[in-house]
Amino acid sequence: MRRIYISNKAVSLVEYQPCDDRALYDCWLDPETKKGYNGYSPAGSFEEFQRRAETPRLFSAMIQGNRTGEFVGALGITEAEADLSIRIFAPYRRQGYGTSAFALAAKYATEVLRIKELHAGAYPDNIGSQKMLERCEFRPLAPCPPEKHYLTGEDVIQMDYIYTPSPAAAGAPPRGSQGIHTVHVPLGTRAYDVHIGAGLLEKTGALVAEALHPTRVLLVTDSNVAKYHYNDLAVQSLEMQGIACGTFIFQAGETSKSLYTYEKILDACTGFSLYSGDALLALGGGVTGDLTGFAAATYRRGIAFVQVPTTLLAAVDSSLGGKTGVNLSAGKNLVGAFWQPGLVITDTDTFGTLPRLEYANGMAECLKHGVLFDEALFAALENGGPVSAARIARNVELKRDVVLCDERDGGERRKLNLGHTLGHAIEQASGYAVPHGAAVGLGMLMMARVFCPAIVDRLSAALEKNNLPTQCKFTVRELFSALEQDKKRAGGDITIVVPQKIGQCELRTLPMEELKRLLEERL
Ligand SMILES: NC(=O)c1ccc[n+]([C@@H]2O[C@H](COP(=O)([O-])OP(=O)(O)OC[C@H]3O[C@@H](n4cnc5c(N)ncnc54)[C@H](O)[C@@H]3O)[C@@H](O)[C@H]2O)c1
Ligand SMILES: [Zn+2]
Repeated sequence: MRRIYISNKAVSLVEYQPCDDRALYDCWLDPETKKGYNGYSPAGSFEEFQRRAETPRLFSAMIQGNRTGEFVGALGITEAEADLSIRIFAPYRRQGYGTSAFALAAKYATEVLRIKELHAGAYPDNIGSQKMLERCEFRPLAPCPPEKHYLTGEDVIQMDYIYTPSPAAAGAPPRGSQGIHTVHVPLGTRAYDVHIGAGLLEKTGALVAEALHPTRVLLVTDSNVAKYHYNDLAVQSLEMQGIACGTFIFQAGETSKSLYTYEKILDACTGFSLYSGDALLALGGGVTGDLTGFAAATYRRGIAFVQVPTTLLAAVDSSLGGKTGVNLSAGKNLVGAFWQPGLVITDTDTFGTLPRLEYANGMAECLKHGVLFDEALFAALENGGPVSAARIARNVELKRDVVLCDERDGGERRKLNLGHTLGHAIEQASGYAVPHGAAVGLGMLMMARVFCPAIVDRLSAALEKNNLPTQCKFTVRELFSALEQDKKRAGGDITIVVPQKIGQCELRTLPMEELKRLLEERL
């Protein structure tokens, strides 16, 4: 009797794209009875399958199905009690294998277990779908906190019988091999590429080796990102290129964007013997990127760094433009440097695990880019839903173009502040309870209400569709007191970004008092 613990971190309803469902369905259907193995679906129709394929229940149905006869989950063993632990990572979804990867993992686990007995742990090289096997991780067992979605299995040798992968399901090329978008940022000797697409984490090594030729890379990530093992995928890929890797993981959250964490990263750099030809790699959101970039800018007077954004916000905003830094107790981003990455790699699959609120934060910046520069982009985003790699690339191009003509904050680049003046005031007035994206969305909406009423309805609908609020609970007076506190002064002039229509905005400088009056009058 063997106990196998299978945890599936792949399940996310945010971005599931049924891909090759038909092939999965063919595997799932009992060839004799022509009914699904899935106890949830007596009819077993393809439509039903499609509808349910995106829920973890199907996994349990497949594993527990009438072939094993038992609901293995009911055994309730923990990972620590199992003989083998299999973790399936989010990137499997990219192949549309959410379901099949799970069943295949179980199937191959049993084969590995059998062969393990014969070969003392050696991996077999003759397993039917080596490709899928490589994509399962077999870990030494260690206690781990219970996962949200997991199944436990017993005697899953019967799994063979349950599931026979169709050639299409087992051999389909990874979706990530197509549809990769590359945006070039021509900054002379500091020029770099931004690659965007599904499945790119696994190509980290090849891309980094080609762009930067480092011998050692220190990967920096936060505790949330590490939970999904994205760092493992990146490290594995780097090591396959012969690059030595170290990993530094810090506690997730804005409070870690501090001199303290910065110093710890520098310590890790010396501890890992990074020299000038080596690189730091930031795997995570804007906090990770800003922190790691600043460490890279200053360690040994500057070493190369790679941005691997895993939040939508980082992908379309913070990973570009070269602003790096940390917060002081007196305020955000008060210490920093301009330091361009040598490469940006965005694996859109990582967004699958982003909390809804974090996704919305990024959407606010995407909508902002649309309002500022590109009506077609706005139109593509205004109905909500996940942003495609192509649209992310468009966002990157737009930010690149602004940043290129104005590398340091001055003229054009200030347009990127659309919605941010009032947005910051809202964040501050709420004691940072209102998330950045929500605040920026509201800031844009207020600017529209005051200066461009024609776009208000459309913008408001777009915010709603993208899970962003449209009601601000603060009065103009409250916002202004936050604004004046922010500017450390009352009165004087303020430069704001004013929408003229969707796709066009201008900078306008006016006295603070006048802005206050306009807001009071028109909001
Ligand atoms: N440098 C710039 O030009 C620039 C521009 C805009 C914002 N920023 C900075 O960026 C920061 C905000 O960025 P952010 O919103 O990405 O914050 P973040 O890095 O804190 O990420 C947000 C949350 O998502 C988690 N997360 C990240 N990737 C995930 C994934 N794939 N799945 C699940 N969870 C994941 C993180 O652990 C964190 O809890 C701020 O510090 C801001 O000042 C910098
Ligand atoms: Zn912003």
